[in-house]
Amino acid sequence: MSLIAVLPGDGIGVEVTREARRVLEVGARRFGFKLSFEEAPVGGAAYEACGEPLPAATLDLARRSAAVLFGAVGGPSWEGLPRQKRPEAALLGLRKGLGVYANLRPAKLYPALAGASTLKPEVVAGLDIMVVRELTGGIYFGEPRGVATRDGEEEAWNTLRYTKSEIIRIARMAFEIARRRRRRLTSVDKANILEVMELWRRTTTEVAREYPDVAFAHMLVDTCAMQLVSNPKQFDVIVTGNMFGDILSDEAAQLTGSIGMLPSASLGGTVGFYEPVHGSAPDIAGQDKANPIAAIASAAMLLRYSLHQEAAAQAVEEAIGAVLGQSVRTADIAQPGCRVVGTREMGERICAALAG
Ligand code: IPM
Ligand code: MG
Repeated sequence: MSLIAVLPGDGIGVEVTREARRVLEVGARRFGFKLSFEEAPVGGAAYEACGEPLPAATLDLARRSAAVLFGAVGGPSWEGLPRQKRPEAALLGLRKGLGVYANLRPAKLYPALAGASTLKPEVVAGLDIMVVRELTGGIYFGEPRGVATRDGEEEAWNTLRYTKSEIIRIARMAFEIARRRRRRLTSVDKANILEVMELWRRTTTEVAREYPDVAFAHMLVDTCAMQLVSNPKQFDVIVTGNMFGDILSDEAAQLTGSIGMLPSASLGGTVGFYEPVHGSAPDIAGQDKANPIAAIASAAMLLRYSLHQEAAAQAVEEAIGAVLGQSVRTADIAQPGCRVVGTREMGERICAALAG
């Protein structure tokens, strides 16, 4: 029996996580393994319930689970809070607390969605990129950081810092992933300007010697941002630091038609952490409009990486493709001639396709 910690969070996180959980239940039944689920509040919802975005009991549940299924956090009502009380602090606390330093964000175009991208179909058809984002270091966590007023003027500062061992472990993870794919790895940095990124480039070059079977190249982040829209199919695996990975993975997501499609897995700690790349979308929360596919595809990654149920993971991904192939869409990926459905119906249809 594997315990899944379900942390729905705020906004559409609640709706999409409900569908992802149902898919896991159906998958467990079909493939004959047992799951139990325990829910806990996180983000703004937890702040309302107990004054903390990441209550100790929530982190504790995450730590003793086999895997964490996370929804999304944030919303306008909590934006004015001090940084440590804001919903986003819970997400950073969970990533750091679980030690999940490698964030895998696969941007894959489902064939049925080639026309849903804002790019020409021939530019994106067959697109299959894996962004490997360093998740527990870099400027998100670097010290010193702060704000102050000096000589009557306000200033603020953050620190971009990576140790060599942090770079080695994320590079190895990315090379291992590339080995199981098309054996091409691009490391993205800003080595022409930043000392940290010079260390990043030098270190990834050293790690590359352990993987002579993987074609390896460096690319500057501004070039990569451009190449992702001009010629995205040149990429197989991209490895980069925390902030560049945040930005480039949203860009990669949009290539596939909608950020509502992009799942993620955060690995490297004792417990895997699975979340859709999209946020809490307060504007459509509670209206049965959100696309649950990113959350459901995150559940597929949970099956693959934490429960080692590869057949079940593939079956979930096939079920998503099958439903999209029936021209059923949520509003964010709607195309002429397709039937537009809500969050719940999309979830139900994927469950039905999975049940067989
Ligand atoms: C993401 C999000 C988060 C991040 C926010 C919500 C803290 O944008 O997962 O990409 O910046 O990492
Ligand atoms: Mg982001």
